[in-house]
Amino acid sequence: PRTAVIVVAAGSGTRLGAPAPKAFVGIDERTVLRHALEGVFAAPPAQVIVVAPAGYEGEAESDARAAAGARGDLMRVVTGGQTRQQSVAAGLAALWGDVETVLVHDAARALTPASQIAAVIRAVSEGDGTGIVPALPVIDTLKQVDGDAVVGVADRSQLVAAQTPQGFPRARLEQAYERAAQEGAEYTDDAALYAAAGFAVQHIPGTATAFKITTPADLERARMLLAPRTT
Ligand code: C5P
Repeated sequence: PRTAVIVVAAGSGTRLGAPAPKAFVGIDERTVLRHALEGVFAAPPAQVIVVAPAGYEGEAESDARAAAGARGDLMRVVTGGQTRQQSVAAGLAALWGDVETVLVHDAARALTPASQIAAVIRAVSEGDGTGIVPALPVIDTLKQVDGDAVVGVADRSQLVAAQTPQGFPRARLEQAYERAAQEGAEYTDDAALYAAAGFAVQHIPGTATAFKITTPADLERARMLLAPRTT
């Protein structure tokens, strides 16, 4: 395949308060990572790089094998780093073959539908070197604060909430990562890092179910979505 999906799962997930790293917490009988990978392998064929926390490579491998099914030869597990950016860099270094499009996906967005992954791949291929971010409108009123004081309000119409996977032409993404490493700059998502290198980024519609599992309430929401209907 000319497309690769790097699934970053190397975070500790301290805000979830679970004993295991977040990607290895069970939603139902399947882990967060397993669910994320089910979506990735249901999308158009791509090479899949799973970035696991040090010491959890074996668990990641078995989740990935189970999700990959007949596509097992398209999958590789590597060890992540201290920051999300370092984990993505480790994934980029593990690409093989003639990949032209790279998607970076948070394992924590476990219930992201395959259709969203497919839409990002399509948008990158139709774009002219543009990075693609799935995003949702902002619902809440966002206040700017200074300590306890509310000092301003953001214009909601100019804001969206970014999700993953975010997709990019490989050559430009690698260039942007090299630049960030040289400058020692840390970015919270790939689109920001890509834009900092001077490349354009566009957003496409995201999906409510692609929310990121961060807190115990998020995990509960994922469990409710997966529970069999009783009515
Ligand atoms: O912490 P947060 O939920 O924002 O992390 C987003 C994603 O990045 C998660 O899927 C997490 O596993 C991943 N990550 C990583 N390596 C890190 C930190 C976060 O792969 N060092």
